[in-house]
Amino acid sequence: MSQPTPAQPWGAPAPAPAAPHPAPAPGAAPQAGPAPHPHPHPHPAPPGPPAPADPSARLSARGLVKRFGPTTALAGVDLDVAPGESVAVMGPSGSGKSTLLHCLAGILVPDTGSVALSGRPLQDLDERQRSLVRRRQYGFVFQFGQLLAELPAIENVALAPMLLGTSRKEATDLAGRWLASLGLAGMEQRRPGELSGGQAQRVAVARALITGPEVVFADEPTGALDQATGQDVMRILTETTRLAGASLVVVTHDAGVAAWCDRRVEVRDGRVVADVRRGAAA
Ligand SMILES: Nc1ncnc2c1ncn2[C@@H]1O[C@H](COP(=O)(O)OP(=O)(O)OP(=O)(O)O)[C@@H](O)[C@H]1O
Ligand SMILES: [Mg+2]
Repeated sequence: MSQPTPAQPWGAPAPAPAAPHPAPAPGAAPQAGPAPHPHPHPHPAPPGPPAPADPSARLSARGLVKRFGPTTALAGVDLDVAPGESVAVMGPSGSGKSTLLHCLAGILVPDTGSVALSGRPLQDLDERQRSLVRRRQYGFVFQFGQLLAELPAIENVALAPMLLGTSRKEATDLAGRWLASLGLAGMEQRRPGELSGGQAQRVAVARALITGPEVVFADEPTGALDQATGQDVMRILTETTRLAGASLVVVTHDAGVAAWCDRRVEVRDGRVVADVRRGAAA
């Protein structure tokens, strides 16, 4: 399994050395590193009609525009995310990062433009079908975990497969294995309020990955954590998504968080203004 490379072309502090981590994904096939992406987008986006969606991409967004009243949150975004690739989305507050993530995730519908998941356009789906995609093919990690406060850790994690029809027993067994693999053995019965911020985010990572999603979305997953704990959560998030063969899209303000990802995309005023691969010249 590949570990994050210490060299950070964009000058971010290198992640803490990654300790080998127990293989987390029960039933997940390890895969080779992400395939090099065939269509890097020049920026700023050239005028004219957007190129067709990339059928080899896990996620392929073209010409995304999203307005909220007078505010243009996205002003024409093209983005491809390869299978297994991890992408950090960075940019100033209000630049459109969360709006982009929500459009990619089918939570928001863009005013114009399209998002395809493994070649299937989300706009062809109705709200019920999009909700099924979010449940089956996507996993989510948010800033504050958004765990259910009244449920113990193991039930928070088991709920995701149960909602997809897995029996309580099977889901609970699987959730227990996930929690153990993320270093939370013995904490299964604790409620979120009885866990540290970092532990709660590990539970959120387990909950996002347990259903075997194709893409994991994380919006400021370390925003509420101190530096060291945030690095630890990013190590776990990037390792587990990579092992599970999922793509990862992480919104963050923190260059140290972005440094864990294969690629960093900069958003300004609703546009992608930079797209840098790890190892490439900045
Ligand atoms: N539901 C909404 N209603 C109205 N305006 C919105 C809504 N959501 C976002 N916006 C506006 O769209 C723009 C982009 O917002 P977005 O939340 O995507 O920014 P962001 O880059 O995620 O910022 P932050 O780093 O502060 O989270 C901002 O000007 C914001 O005020
Ligand atoms: Mg945001």
